[in-house]
Amino acid sequence: MELLDLFIIGFTLIFLRLWWRHWSTTGGGPKNLPPGPPGWPLVGNLFQIIFQRRHFIFIVRELRKLYGPVFTMQMGQRTMVIVTDSRLIHEALVQRGPVFASRPPDSPIRLVFSVGKCAINSAEYGPLWRTLRKNFVTEIITPTRVKQCGWIRKWAVENHMKRIKCHASETGSVEVMSNCRLTICSILICLCFGAKISEQGIKKIESILKDVMMITSPQLPDFLPILTPLFRRQMEEAKALRKKQLEALVPLIKNRRAFVENGENPNQEMVSPIGAAYIDSLFRLEPATRGPLGDEEYVTLCSEVISAGTDTSATTVEWAMLHLVMDQGLQEKLYQEIIDCVGMNGDIKEEDVEKMTYLEAVIKETFRRHPPSHFLLSHAAIKDTELGGYTIPAGVHVEFYTAWITENPDIWSDPGEFRPERFLEGDGVDVDVTGTRAAKMLPFGAGRRICPAWNLGVLHIKLLLANMVQAFKWLPVPDSPPDMTETFAFTVVMKNPLKAVILPR
Ligand code: HEM
Repeated sequence: MELLDLFIIGFTLIFLRLWWRHWSTTGGGPKNLPPGPPGWPLVGNLFQIIFQRRHFIFIVRELRKLYGPVFTMQMGQRTMVIVTDSRLIHEALVQRGPVFASRPPDSPIRLVFSVGKCAINSAEYGPLWRTLRKNFVTEIITPTRVKQCGWIRKWAVENHMKRIKCHASETGSVEVMSNCRLTICSILICLCFGAKISEQGIKKIESILKDVMMITSPQLPDFLPILTPLFRRQMEEAKALRKKQLEALVPLIKNRRAFVENGENPNQEMVSPIGAAYIDSLFRLEPATRGPLGDEEYVTLCSEVISAGTDTSATTVEWAMLHLVMDQGLQEKLYQEIIDCVGMNGDIKEEDVEKMTYLEAVIKETFRRHPPSHFLLSHAAIKDTELGGYTIPAGVHVEFYTAWITENPDIWSDPGEFRPERFLEGDGVDVDVTGTRAAKMLPFGAGRRICPAWNLGVLHIKLLLANMVQAFKWLPVPDSPPDMTETFAFTVVMKNPLKAVILPR
């Protein structure tokens, strides 16, 4: 090797070292970021994670043991600060809520679907987010509006019960997740567009929105933007999917507009009175920083409601049903509560499920033992700040690992056990699921960005479980016991979806 070669190699190494120290969290720079696993030059911890061929939610369990309450991962160019300690999570989300209430920048693919961050979940903390969230709460979540739309849930739950009966007689068993997804999706489509559409139409929208969720999950170029040109095909696929999403939803928007403006309703699909559908409010909305919205924004904002509300609730019903199937004593106790309240054949009204304390305990225990999401959505600090003695720079991805809170034996006794009774007389009695007082479980997040529709989601779960258990006894499929293995599909679901045999009560 020539002297010049040695000089070039040496110079390159020194340059890389200095450059790495400058921006890497794990390269020993003077930034006072939380500690983290040592990474490789340029790519940080990215390939250490990719080579494990497991989803990050499973790897983080081990990292937490090594690096503790708050640590940093350098994923290519993306700096991720992971917070796992319940006190630090409470401090960030509740006590210093506004500081951590923003969202980090979106990847190019996510920007296609959020039309430049025009969605409640992705908007930065500021006037656009405030306008969108306030409108959503007024139009969908206020008690008056929830009551006004009770007929939609009644219609959807009746269809659900007929459908599962039919599936059971055709195939001998019922698949819980797919049926619950379809039912909840039909409710949310009707809340958004005021329309009752065919089962085939609902399935089409559901499948497109599931694809949107998967394609917007982080991918390699999101961590190493330099690779973006090599991933042109993914961007093309994303644009094609966006086109499909628009083609599926814009006709509903057009029909609704014709109904609202001219009273037209040729195929009688528009069923909600004018003003009662979410989209009606969006037609009038003009966020100060954005001006009047168009079809692109309507599609994004309605898709967000349907996607955010479907998998989260359906996942919870599936996990709850798993325990009811595996523990017949537990199912019997719940059945007794239901028939004590409404009788064996009585209609289950929304006021009734609110009185069922054991049902509530089963649902809380399901959220605790099987949180639908192990992380909240990514947060970002609005300015450089401090947490746990470390610096958190503005704009980095702050990830709250909330699943650990409910696995932590210092917070919960026998955390691996499924015991709804703990919420009636035990370590769960005083727990506040909104995390306002303390972070003992946070299925919906806490503080400024808490899920704005958590009580609606819980209502869907209550109605489905109460109706399903009142009408049928749920049993494991003979020779095919349920498998509790988890997998990640936007929420953490059963890898082999739950199937059960149902016997009319
Ligand atoms: C069991 C049901 C549900 C669970 C477990 C759940 C959970 C969550 C979680 C963990 C977040 C993120 C909070 C954060 O980033 O700090 C969230 C946000 C959100 N959820 Fe839910 N959710 C549920 C139901 C629903 C439903 C039914 C809807 C709509 C009808 C909905 C709409 C939203 C929206 C719009 C956001 C974004 C809020 C923001 O960024 O300001 N969710 N949800």
